[in-house]
Formats: sequence, structure tokens, C-alpha cells
Amino acid sequence: MTTQMQILPALAPEGAGLVSYPAAIPAADPRHLLGLAGMPRETLLELLEEGQRYRDQMDRGGIVSRALEGVTVCNAFFENSTRTRLSFELAERRMGATVVTFSATDSSTMKGETLLDTLKVVEAMGVDVMVVRHASSGAAHYLARHLATTVINAGDGTHEHPTQGLLDLLTLRQVWSGRFAGRRLAIVGDIVHSRVARSAIHGLVTLGTEVTVAGPATLLPAGIETIGARVAPTADEAIAGADAVMTLRLQKERMEQGLLASLGEYTRHWGSDARRARLLKPEGVVLHPGPVNRGIELMPDVADGERSVILEQVRNGVAMRCAVLERCVAESRSVA
Ligand code: CP
Repeated sequence: MTTQMQILPALAPEGAGLVSYPAAIPAADPRHLLGLAGMPRETLLELLEEGQRYRDQMDRGGIVSRALEGVTVCNAFFENSTRTRLSFELAERRMGATVVTFSATDSSTMKGETLLDTLKVVEAMGVDVMVVRHASSGAAHYLARHLATTVINAGDGTHEHPTQGLLDLLTLRQVWSGRFAGRRLAIVGDIVHSRVARSAIHGLVTLGTEVTVAGPATLLPAGIETIGARVAPTADEAIAGADAVMTLRLQKERMEQGLLASLGEYTRHWGSDARRARLLKPEGVVLHPGPVNRGIELMPDVADGERSVILEQVRNGVAMRCAVLERCVAESRSVA
């Protein structure tokens, strides 16, 4: 029997992975987008306004922008992605950037090169913007400290996924006619592993939306209340009367053994089915960041039903990433 050796991307020794939740690192430098924690309300609202402007352009027949002309962007994905990677690529190309993309499996990190050494090599080739997804919480912050390029966090471990948070906010802005205050979002499922939930909570709490989370005790992070979310004991209680529910993907790849008794029990207690969707307000909507485990956290009739805004989230992802790229590049040029 042959044993296949698994070689994991090696991290540079200091920094990466040392961000401890719930400590939030303020995303103070506007050249980067590292997270929504600490982002001022005005900045959030301006980004959403810009995202809507790009979404309107898409709906009128296509994005027309040369905002990234002369800019070289590298999409460095050390974890799998469909939505985030492709929507960044589309946004970058539609705005006139030169785009290079690589994933961990076809880079020299597989030969043991550190994350920082790899991206310093990319930087030396003349890249201006690094869009980074990595399994290590804090990787984007670490790179922003050690690279001269703009860094955009495309998801770091279980920490934050700020462009997903912004596209979720843009989707809710459309559904809620621009009014966030007085609304309530329920987030149900695997909260502890969810960078999507953290970014959504940070953004929505800043805009005055009440956020209620619910999930099995083993999948609820201790101290989630400290970032502004309320914990409900059951999915039914979280969803009843809410303006929207965000069902989270069960992140089996990040799980240790023993967190769940069985998938069937998880679905029965925490899955979004038609009965639970009817507990929402009559106009309430269902979000899911994707990819969906159909039949586990979300039933197909709800995923494809009239309350679902999942494909709107995906479409808004391209528009929102245009807005983020334009803003970060403009800030970077203003300090150059
Ligand atoms: N929502 C999200 O991050 O999806 P991908 O993993 O497909 O990018």
C-alpha cells in the first residue's frame, strides 16, 4: 500500500494565524480591505452606494469603468473558491486591470515556500493589488503589514470575509429599501467556523440592524455577544418575526470530530425548511453565502423558492467587488 504524503502550504513563522477572536483588528488603512470590524458607518454606506451604482450598470447591460486601467491584480487563493474568485476576476477585468490568478495547488507553496515569500515574489513582478484567501485567520492582516501592495481579504480562516459581508449588506439594502435600522437578521447554523457571519454581524450592527444567531452549542463561539449579536436558543426562535434569515454552510472541512451527533439531527434542529421560512415576516427573505449543502442546512424548495435571494447575492458580489477595488486603488494612488 502506498502512502500519499500531504504537503500543506507553509506559513511564514511570525504573525499569520495569531488573530484571536473576538479581538478585532481595526481596518484603519483605507488602501486595504481586511475586515468590516471597526469600519465606520459612513464608509460602509459609501461602499454600498458605489456597489449599487455598479449593480445598476450591470443591469443596464454591463459594467463600464476604466478605474483599474494600469493596475495589476493577483488573485492568490490558498483555499477553494468559486463565487469569490470568479467575481473578483470578472470585476477586475471589466474595470481594465491586468489579472493573474493562482491557487495553492499550482504554486510553489506546495514545495514548502512560505506564504510571505511566495507573495513577495508576486509583488516583485509588479503586482499592485493582492486579493488573498487563506485558511489561516489573520493571514490578510499579516500580509498587509509585510507587503507594499494593497491587500484585500477574500476570506481568512474563521475570521472575516469582508467582501461577502458587503455583498450581503448590499442585498439586504435592496430588499429593505435602504433602511437597516429596526430590521432583524437571523443567522442560523455553523457560526463558529463562519467568517461570513462575523463580517455580516460587524457590518449590520454598525448600521443599526439587530442580529440574532442560533446553532448547536458546539458550533456557537463563546463571546459572540461581545460583537453585538444576540443568541437565540432555537432556530425557530431566531427566525420567528425576522426580516431575513442567513443560513450558513455546515463547514465539514473545518470540523473536528464530535461537534455534531448526526447530520440528520442537525438538519432537523437547525436546517432551513419551508416551515421555518414561513416563520419569517411575510416579506422576509432567505440568504446563503454558498456553496449550499442542499438537504442539510437548506432544503431545495427554500433555496429555489420565492424568498431566496441567493443568486442576487452572487450578482451583487461582482458589483460590490468593483466598488471595493475602485476604492482601495484610489486610496492607494492618493498616498503614492
Ligand atoms: N461565499 C463564498 O465565499 O463562496 P466561494 O467559497 O465559492 O468563494
